[in-house]
Amino acid sequence: MADAVVVISETIVQPESYEDGSDRVKIHLTPFDLFFLRTEYAQRALIFPQPDPETNIISQLKSSLSIALKIFYPLAGRLVKTHNEDDETVSFFIDCNGSGVRFVHASAVTVSVNDVLDPANAAVPGFWNAFFPLNGVESWEGVSESLVAFQVTELKDGVFIGYGNNHMVADGISMWSFFRTLTEICCSAGGQKMFPPLPLREWFLDGIDYPIRVPISETIFAKVVSPSSSPPDLRKKIFRFTSRSISELKEKANDEVVGFDDDEDTQISSFQAVMAHMWRSITKNSDLNPQEVVHCKLAMDIRQRLNPPPEKECFGSMVGLATATTTAGEMLNNGLGWVALQLNKTVRSQTNEVYNRFAENWVKTPKIPNGLVVNNSLVIASSPRFNVFGNDFGWGKPIAVRPGPGIAGHGKILVYPGTEQGSMEVHTSLWSHVLEKLLADGEFLQHVVRLY
Ligand SMILES: *[C@@H]1O[C@H](CO)[C@@H](O)[C@H](O)[C@H]1NC(C)=O
Ligand SMILES: *[C@@H]1O[C@H](CO)[C@@H](O)[C@H](O)[C@H]1NC(C)=O
Ligand SMILES: *[C@@H]1O[C@H](CO)[C@@H](O)[C@H](O)[C@H]1NC(C)=O
Repeated sequence: MADAVVVISETIVQPESYEDGSDRVKIHLTPFDLFFLRTEYAQRALIFPQPDPETNIISQLKSSLSIALKIFYPLAGRLVKTHNEDDETVSFFIDCNGSGVRFVHASAVTVSVNDVLDPANAAVPGFWNAFFPLNGVESWEGVSESLVAFQVTELKDGVFIGYGNNHMVADGISMWSFFRTLTEICCSAGGQKMFPPLPLREWFLDGIDYPIRVPISETIFAKVVSPSSSPPDLRKKIFRFTSRSISELKEKANDEVVGFDDDEDTQISSFQAVMAHMWRSITKNSDLNPQEVVHCKLAMDIRQRLNPPPEKECFGSMVGLATATTTAGEMLNNGLGWVALQLNKTVRSQTNEVYNRFAENWVKTPKIPNGLVVNNSLVIASSPRFNVFGNDFGWGKPIAVRPGPGIAGHGKILVYPGTEQGSMEVHTSLWSHVLEKLLADGEFLQHVVRLY
C-alpha cells in the first residue's frame, strides 16, 4: 500500500526576497530546547477536502509558504553546532539564514480520505511514513535538515498536508500560529494583508550565560535508521469526548475532590478530568503490580507561568514537562477525583521558580534524554485549545488532524479539539494487550466515543 504514494517533486522553498546581512538573527537555545536534542521531529498532518480542479494548489502553497517564511524566518534557518575547544564542549544556536524549508509534492490517486483517517492503516508497514517528510530525523540533525518540512499529497478525494518540525525552533502554539498566517496569505492571493513583525521570545532565564555549553560526550548521537513503521504490537485509537461527557467527568472529578484538598477553591479543569480518566483507565488495564510506579508527563506551555511574562504567543519553543507520579495500587484505590487532583497539583507546581531552578541545574550537568515515551508512563502533548479547524487555505476547513509516525511508543497521547464544538479528540498509542482490555472496560467506555 505504501507504493501508492508517488513523489512528484521535491524542492526547497526560501523566504521571499530574503536579504542576507550581517544583522541576521541568531537564536540561542535554552535548557528546555536542548533537552529535546535527541527527540524526533514533531510530525502532524491536516487532511482537507478536494479543491476545485482549476486551482493549482502546489504553486499557491509554495508561493504562500515563501511569504510566510519571510515573517516566520526562524523556520527557514538551520541549527549550528560550534565546538568550544577550551573546555571540550559544544554549543548550539539557530542561524536564521534563509536556507529555506523542504517541500515535497506527492500523489496517491488510489488512496482515499477514509483510508488515511483510519489509524489501522497507519499500522501497515511503510504506509504512514510515505505521507510525511523527515521520518526518523532528530532535532540535532537540524544542522543539515530543514527545521520544518512539508509534504502535500494529493489523494483520490482530498489533500493530505503532512509536516514535521524541529522541537527546538517552534512548539505547537508557534506552529499553529504559523499555519494560521499561511492560510491567511493563501486566501488573500499574494499577501496584500500586512502582518506584524514576529515577536521572538526574550531571554527568560536569569543567571544563565548563553550559549550554553554541553559536554561533547553528551552529544555523540548515532543516526538511527528509522524503522519503516512503529513496533508491531503498538496500536493507535482515537477517542472522542463530547462536550457532554466532558462536563460529566469534570463534575464527577470536582465532586470527588471535595474532602481531599484543604484548598476550597480547587477547581479541576475539563482537560484535567479527561486526562485523569485516560490515565486511570490505562493504568487499570495495564496489569501492573500495585507497587509499580506510574508517571504522567504533561507537556506544558511555560509562557503563561513566567514572571515577568513574555510577549503573548511569542514565537519559539517554550515547553516544559510536568510529571505526576504515583503507584498503580494507590491510583486504583482512589477514584477519578483523586487522580485529577494529582494532575492539578502537578500543573500548579509549575512556577517561574521551578523553571529557573530546572534551567540552572540543567546547565550544570546537561542530560539529554533518549526517548520521552517509556513504559508505565503517559506523555500528553498538544492541546484542545489549538485552533486546528480554523485553518482554511480556500478549499474548505480541515476534515481531520492526525499525528505522524515519529516518537512512537506506548502511552503517547495527543489531544486536539474535536470537529464538534466543545469536544476533544484523544489520539492514543498503546500496547495492543492494554488497548484490548481498555476497549472492553465498561467504566472507561461509558464516557468516550470510539472514533476509529
Ligand atoms: C545557513 O547555515 C547553515 C549552517 O551553518 C549552512 O549549512 C547553510 O549553507 C547556510 N545557508 C545559507 C543560505 O547561507
Ligand atoms: C487547579 O487548582 C487551582 C486552585 O487550587 C485552580 O485555581 C486551577 O484552576 C486548577 N488548575 C487548572 C490548570 O485548572
Ligand atoms: C515495555 O513493555 C513491553 C510490552 O509489555 C515489553 O515488551 C517491553 O520489554 C517493555 N520495555 C521495557 C524497557 O521495559
